[in-house]
Amino acid sequence: MASLPDHKLPKDFLWGFATAAFQIEGSTDVDDRGKSIWDDFSRLPGKTADGRNGDVATDSYRLWKEDLALLKQYGVKSYRFSISWSRIIPLGGRNDPVNPKGIEYYNGFINGLLENGIIPFLTLYHWDLPQALHDRYGGWLNKDEVVKDYTNYAKVCFEAFGDRVKHWLTINEPWCVAILGYGRGVFAPGRSSDRQRSPEGNSSTEPWIVGHHIILAHAHAVKVYREQFKPTQKGQIGITLNGDWAMPYDDTPENIDAAQHALDFAIGWYADSVHLGFYPPYMREVLGDRMPDFTPEEWEIVKGSSDFYGMNTYTTNLCRAGGDDEFQGNVDYTFTRPDETQLGPQAQSPWLQDYPQGFRALLNYIYKRYKLPILVTENGFSVKGESDIPIDEAVKDDARVHYFQGTTEAMLSAIHEDGVDVQAYFPWSLLDNFEWADGYITRFGVTYVDYETQKRYPKDSAKFLIEWFKEHETIP
Ligand code: NOJ
Repeated sequence: MASLPDHKLPKDFLWGFATAAFQIEGSTDVDDRGKSIWDDFSRLPGKTADGRNGDVATDSYRLWKEDLALLKQYGVKSYRFSISWSRIIPLGGRNDPVNPKGIEYYNGFINGLLENGIIPFLTLYHWDLPQALHDRYGGWLNKDEVVKDYTNYAKVCFEAFGDRVKHWLTINEPWCVAILGYGRGVFAPGRSSDRQRSPEGNSSTEPWIVGHHIILAHAHAVKVYREQFKPTQKGQIGITLNGDWAMPYDDTPENIDAAQHALDFAIGWYADSVHLGFYPPYMREVLGDRMPDFTPEEWEIVKGSSDFYGMNTYTTNLCRAGGDDEFQGNVDYTFTRPDETQLGPQAQSPWLQDYPQGFRALLNYIYKRYKLPILVTENGFSVKGESDIPIDEAVKDDARVHYFQGTTEAMLSAIHEDGVDVQAYFPWSLLDNFEWADGYITRFGVTYVDYETQKRYPKDSAKFLIEWFKEHETIP
C-alpha cells in the first residue's frame, strides 16, 4: 500500500546498515596490523560467553567484496563501519609509523562503496584501542598522551580518506568504553572498580576520568577537522552516544526524578557536556570530586563539538529511586511494570526489550534538549535463542521484524507528528558478528552468518527493512 506523501522520509535521508571493525574483520595478524586491547582480552578465560575471540569474526577483512555485494543487493544508501586504529598506526602513537597496508585496505573498501553508489559513514573509534598505548601509558587514563595520539590518528584518517569520506563519527558509545571497560570490567581493558574502590567504598574514579578524556580527545579531533579539513573537504563530524529511554516505574515524585537521574548518567554525561557545555549537576552531587571538570579553555573546545546528535538506542528502562549502582546514578532498572507485566518482548540480550514507544519518546527528549539534527547510528534487536535453531528457521526472524516495524514507524511519527529532525537511520547490524563479551551466541544481524562456512543468509528483517525504506523514500 502506497504511503501518503507526508509519510515519506525527508529528502536526503540516509539509511544503511552498521558494523564495527573488531566485530567483523578477523585477520588480526595480517598486513602489519598491531594488537588492539580486545585481542588479548577476548582470549582470557571467561571474558566471552562462548570462549571465542575476534581472530576470525565474520572474516570481513578478507570477504569485503562479499559484504559489498550484500550492501548493493540490499540497496542501501550508506554503510556505517569503523576503521581499526591498529591497522592504520600499529603502535598507535603520534611518533609511531603509519602502516601503508592499512591505508590501502580502507582506500580499496571506500572506493568500492563509492563505485557502488554507497556513501561511507565512518567511525574512527569503536572500542579497539591499540594495545601498545595501553601498555605504554595506560591508554585512556593518560590525558595528555591519549588526547594527542587520538587526534593524530584522526588527522591521519582525514588526510587519507577525507577527500571521499564526508561523514565522520569520532567515538562510538563512550559510556560503554568507560563504564564497561573501567568500571564493571566486562569489556577491554577489563579494569574493574572492585580493585580500586575509593575510601568511601563506592565506585572508583577511573570510569569518570576515562569518559572525561574521551570527550576531550573527541573535541580535539573535531577542532582539527573543522580548522584544517572541513573548509576543503566539506564533511560533517560528531560523536555517537548510546542511551536508552528512561521511564518512571510509577508516578511517584521520587521515581519521576529517578528517570531523569538515569538519563543524566547514561546520556547527559556526554550529551550535556558535548552539546551544551556542562556536566549534569546530579553527577557531581553523586560523585563529588571524583567527577573531573574541564578548564574554561577546554570547555571552549568541548562545547558544540558535534555537528549532529549521534544516537545509538535499543530499549527503554523503567526507573526506580533507591538503587545503589553508582554507574546508573543510583537508579534501579527493571522491565517489569508494577502490575507484573513486561514492557515488551525479551531479546537474547538481557538488557533489551522491544518497546518502540520509548524510541519515539527518546527522539523527542533529545531533540527538545539538544536542538540538533538526530542521526540514528544504531538500533536493533537480538532474537532469543537464534543460535540454537537451524539456519532456515533463524532467517525467519519475526521478533526482529516486529522490533523494526515498531521503531521505523515510531521514527516516522516522531518526524511527521512531533516535528523531530531525524536525518539518518542505521540498523545494527549488517551481519551477525562478534558481540563483545557475549561472543557469537548473541546475534544482531539482519544477515545470518554461518560461522562454520562464513556463508551469509539474508533474514526476513533485511527484507522488511529494504522494502520499508523503498516504500518511504522521497523521490530526489
Ligand atoms: C552497541 C555497540 O556499538 C555495538 O558494538 C554492539 O554490538 C551493539 N550495541 C549491540 O550490543
